[in-house]
Amino acid sequence: MGVVVLYGSETGTCELVADNVVDALSSYDTSLYDMMEFDPEDLDSDDFLIVVCSTYGDGELPTGAEPFYEALCDEEPDLAGLRFATFGLGDSIYEETFNRGGEIISEKLTELGAKQVGEHGRHDASSSVRPKDQAQEWAKKIADEFLGG
Ligand SMILES: Cc1cc2nc3c(=O)[nH]c(=O)nc-3n(C[C@H](O)[C@H](O)[C@H](O)COP(=O)(O)O)c2cc1C
Repeated sequence: MGVVVLYGSETGTCELVADNVVDALSSYDTSLYDMMEFDPEDLDSDDFLIVVCSTYGDGELPTGAEPFYEALCDEEPDLAGLRFATFGLGDSIYEETFNRGGEIISEKLTELGAKQVGEHGRHDASSSVRPKDQAQEWAKKIADEFLGG
């Protein structure tokens, strides 16, 4: 089993966060991709998927996640058996649309048969917590619970 980490970003924070998730999972066979460069047909149900995604506009996906999301909608791959965990980035200043981006992707993956596991991470840019620190803690917990420590 490999761990595939995908990030969808607007201004690069998710890439930094995804790098830190990979660091936290250094004892696993991990690979890291920008969603812009990843075809959903390459998702393998034997892998464990980690999604790192921010939110833009009015509760929308960041530009970097749009092609992946569109491809999921168009290709409708059967994702039965695939497990995934999501770490979203957002800002609570946006209240009702707080962290919608990560939720949009997660809902689509679930609709296609994948199973979300673990806590849905939600970073708040208005907090004093650094996203990479929160993401590393989150990733370690996911590893303990779902990747056999
Ligand atoms: C123009 C703009 C719109 C945003 N809209 C939302 C939003 O609707 N909901 C939310 O939770 N965060 C929103 N954010 C906050 C970003 O998701 C947050 O700053 C995130 O850390 C950015 O990550 P990125 O650099 O990887 O894209 C917005 C930020 C900007 C600049």
